[in-house]
Amino acid sequence: MDRFAFDSMTVGVCYYPEHWDRSLWEEDLGRMLEAGVTVVRIAEFAWSLFERTEGVFTLDYFDPFLDLCEKTGMKVIFGTPTATPPVWLTEKYPEVLNCDITGVKYRHGMRRHYNYNSPVYREKCALIVEKIARHYGGRPCIIGWQIDNELNCEKDEFYSGADSAAFRVWLKDKYGALDRLNDAWGTVFWSQTYTEWDQIYVPRPAPHAAYNPHLHLDYLRFVSSSCLSFCDMQAKILRMHIAPDAFITTNGMFSHMDNHAMTRESLNLYTYDSYPNFAFGLDVKDIEHNLLCDRWSGMKLTEVRSICPHFGIMEQQSGAGSWTSRMDNPMPRPGQMTLWALQSVAHGADFVSFFRWRTAAFGTEIYWHGILGYDNRDNRRMGELRDFAARMKRLEPVCGADYVADIALVRDYDNIFDSELDNWHRRVTRQSEDAIFEASQLYHTPMDMLYLEPYTALSDLKKYKALIMPHASIMTKEKADLLESYVRQGGVLVIGCRSGYKDASGRCPMAPQPGLMQKLTATDVTEYTLASPAEEEPYAIWNGRRMPMPVFNDVLIPMEGAQVLARFGTSYYAGEAALTEHRVGEGRVLHLGSAFSRESAKLILEHLGLLEPFADVIRAPQEVELIMREKDGQKYLFALNYRETEKTVTLYRQAVSLFDGETVQGEVVLRPYGVEVYKIG
Ligand code: GAL
Repeated sequence: MDRFAFDSMTVGVCYYPEHWDRSLWEEDLGRMLEAGVTVVRIAEFAWSLFERTEGVFTLDYFDPFLDLCEKTGMKVIFGTPTATPPVWLTEKYPEVLNCDITGVKYRHGMRRHYNYNSPVYREKCALIVEKIARHYGGRPCIIGWQIDNELNCEKDEFYSGADSAAFRVWLKDKYGALDRLNDAWGTVFWSQTYTEWDQIYVPRPAPHAAYNPHLHLDYLRFVSSSCLSFCDMQAKILRMHIAPDAFITTNGMFSHMDNHAMTRESLNLYTYDSYPNFAFGLDVKDIEHNLLCDRWSGMKLTEVRSICPHFGIMEQQSGAGSWTSRMDNPMPRPGQMTLWALQSVAHGADFVSFFRWRTAAFGTEIYWHGILGYDNRDNRRMGELRDFAARMKRLEPVCGADYVADIALVRDYDNIFDSELDNWHRRVTRQSEDAIFEASQLYHTPMDMLYLEPYTALSDLKKYKALIMPHASIMTKEKADLLESYVRQGGVLVIGCRSGYKDASGRCPMAPQPGLMQKLTATDVTEYTLASPAEEEPYAIWNGRRMPMPVFNDVLIPMEGAQVLARFGTSYYAGEAALTEHRVGEGRVLHLGSAFSRESAKLILEHLGLLEPFADVIRAPQEVELIMREKDGQKYLFALNYRETEKTVTLYRQAVSLFDGETVQGEVVLRPYGVEVYKIG
């Protein structure tokens, strides 16, 4: 699908006309426009308003509201309501319901309780989407359409009868014959051999949840494929009836789905829902991890950017968040709502829409606060909305500017899915991705993410000076070849332990490790171990400096051409190679024999000359995030203070603040939760 990009910095809100008395609509729109909001997203949960009983359509509910939008100049993003099937549908066709792993159905009363594979559900969704698209598709105020709401949110696993049936079809298509499936899944192990397709199910309860890992890997691929085809079905229907220049998007981003392929195949724009408060709830491992707090949201925004470099935020947190039953998020502190919105902008969003205009007065989300409170009076958050909208006007030159990063963290869905049922893979991946992100944040070294997809080309890789692919346990020839081409033309590839020892089915081929990557690393791994809890944390020594080597150790035997940079200092492999470097063509490959620690990530980036790329422009404390966006050779530097106290940065060159037009140099004080954006000369 063609990409859509906003040509102007745009502010929106999520609005639910159906939650309020009609007499409030015009006043609400007036207040939004006065505050600088020019787009509302509506209708994404309104199926029972459109089809209260089966086949009886009342499509005109939103017409008076859209009339008002057209009168006032408000633009609209219209949602398809398929996240919330009405009660008549789930009562009459209970097969549309998703089940838990024991096969018990989720019942009506929440949302996203359907499965993608029910033929009846697909039929009913296709019909309602077509009816709505036909009815509203020609409305001039509608600039875009949102498919469903947060695909794979709430539940990203599906265990209904329809899912098992569709899984068999998917497997037949993939393997053709049962013999091939049995071979790929290693079913001879524990006598799991299948003799009929109907004997195969989506995962069912198993002791220790120890399903066949190869089946599970295919199951997650299948869940992704089901979700993508559901989305694509809606996109195709919408495209037939809506204005040609209206974009199609969905909001997210959730697991067990290939968000990249979905966006490429079915959407014009990817939008994300950013709730940085959730970052406070992550396992706070230590003080420095805690230091990042809401900056962990940047990890998600980095992933979003890899899907769609110029994305939108469909839901930006504006208030305290809670359902009546779960989640306890405090109210954003004064300035924090604006900080979070600007965090999104710094990472690449040119459209930010706040969730939600007014706090719900009823329902599960009565504690999920919007801009306005229950009392509907002007308040502090409304003041921040006005301030943010005014700043977005000043940021107009940044619209369409690219996020600048020299390095990228490389992922692929095979390895993400594989790591879910492989403890070692999961532990090293979590440790490394966190550590690399922490190092990039704390040492002001912006990073991107790059997903290796079947369509990923060398030109996508060449944008980066270095790629870090921490633990690609699954490696295919295509990917290894692509990485080799990248290195040969001058790129740097950094990999960690547990690389290259599995094939695309998740089986371990009989080959020396790191398998297909051995040619690149010139290392042999004959000895490896999980770090022993009975010993001190493993470390290595690099040029006299101590570097933690956490979680898992591959003992590296250097082959011809490989240079040893660091050696283990601990355990029975003390003195053996822990980090190597191998020149390949114009580039080089570093192999670290462990998961990454914040220190090893930092030392490697320093070794590569890629640490702190803005050091000649600005010095900032670790609590301040630095981001550069660039357009037509012009650079814009964002400095974001995530703390409740003032922070001082030092500008080494003259820079112009986009917010107040002042030229500054030397020390500048950022207010608590303050953000500055400078045009760098
Ligand atoms: C999002 C969702 C919204 C609302 C919000 C706050 O995940 O799309 O509909 O539920 O969270 O909980």
